[in-house]
Amino acid sequence: MPWLFLQFARPGPRRLPALTVRRPNSVTHADPAPLSAVASGPLQGRLRVPGDKSISHRALMLGALATGRTRIRGLLEAADVIDTARAVTALGAPASKSGDTWEVLGRGTGGLAQPDGPIDFGNSGTGARLMMGIVAPHDISVSMIGDASLSKRPMGRILGPLKAMGLEVEGDREQLPLTIRGSSRLAPIAYTLPVPSAQLKSAILFAGLGTAGETTVIEREATRDHTERMLRHFGAEVTSATEDGATRITIKGEAELEGREVTVPGDPSSAAFLVAAALLVPGSDITIEGVLVNPTRTGLYTTLQEMGADVTLINQREEGGEPVADIRARYSELKGVRVPAERAPSMIDEYPALAVIAAFAHGPTRMDGLAELKVKESDRLAATAAGLTANGVKAEVDGDTLIVHGTGRVPGGGRVATHLDHRIAMSFLVMGLASAAPVTVDDTAMIATSFPEFRPLMEGIGARFGESAA
Ligand code: S3P
Repeated sequence: MPWLFLQFARPGPRRLPALTVRRPNSVTHADPAPLSAVASGPLQGRLRVPGDKSISHRALMLGALATGRTRIRGLLEAADVIDTARAVTALGAPASKSGDTWEVLGRGTGGLAQPDGPIDFGNSGTGARLMMGIVAPHDISVSMIGDASLSKRPMGRILGPLKAMGLEVEGDREQLPLTIRGSSRLAPIAYTLPVPSAQLKSAILFAGLGTAGETTVIEREATRDHTERMLRHFGAEVTSATEDGATRITIKGEAELEGREVTVPGDPSSAAFLVAAALLVPGSDITIEGVLVNPTRTGLYTTLQEMGADVTLINQREEGGEPVADIRARYSELKGVRVPAERAPSMIDEYPALAVIAAFAHGPTRMDGLAELKVKESDRLAATAAGLTANGVKAEVDGDTLIVHGTGRVPGGGRVATHLDHRIAMSFLVMGLASAAPVTVDDTAMIATSFPEFRPLMEGIGARFGESAA
């Protein structure tokens, strides 16, 4: 059984309607669901992508720490985020859907309760890591579990600074499953991020929110800033100051947050697959409405413009404290480029899609500074290179660099190992829409962790898939 039907209902102070969600079986992932993508006619149409995953996680978590009710419109209803909704519910802040709006009944800063059993974060690194910071300033003990992919991912980078603040970790484990014990008397810290990670920054700021005094995170490379924006939106005092290229972000602890309205814009990392497909399939012209274009997330679009892509951001505006635009993408003749290492944090989730695009470009594309790709849902650097090679594209990994030798044409015909990684699956399905022979991915179940509507949305603009495995 690849799918479980989970009843999303937990006892809480006020029961909201139960929601039935489909999510992959997070622990075993039995029965993989392969899929092939075949050469498709022009992709055309106007569409929307589901809500941004990063913002969705944060809205649920800060809603849980605020006093009163938080209403969230446009929440991403994908397995990763549903796991976070279940997690905050288990911690005493019930989250549920009412009409087209999600509601979280917050417990106030420091008000989360001891859960009854372990909390399952499924495939979600963001859910697990951010929650470590949320739990840290509470006198509760939380056991965290996840699927095979999440259980391999490094947690020491988060637990290190949280332990310096006073968090205890049973057996000093650095991977899930693990049990953490928080404390309402954490000590504030000033911490320089050793890796450019928004998850690490966010976990420390969340811990700092429930800690007396001021907690500071120093980042040398800008990472996505949704946590800072949303903390301010909920009423926390967060200051950011950049000096000599480093930004000091300080949160004043023990602040009371107030329940708010949150509108989640479309996810640019999901939009990336549609944009890639439109650029690669001759004659395509699509417009994706209401996509988040926060500059900490738009490195892919800068890169595509350098490659000669016909991609434009139209009707730029601000919605719910975040910049948003409609993105128009048309089929383009592309050239290879060099993508500098310093751009990596602003497009870290888009490299598999970019690598597929680069395979269709003329000339080599060199992507530097990809160390963090090795610790995503899979080793994405290796998985991307293997998928390219399996489809007749010359690709080299040299340390933290990926070089894709684009020739303007991709033979295809390969079967791609997805390693429980949604973005590997979607990237190579996009490849198959424009390659000479179909491309098969060995499993599509994980796509539901971030973008359950991927296939119907793609088919709606003209993409063709077939169940037959190569
Ligand atoms: C995320 C940050 C990134 C990104 C992930 C979501 C976030 O991870 O890859 O998909 O929501 O903060 P890192 O912070 O580890 O780079």
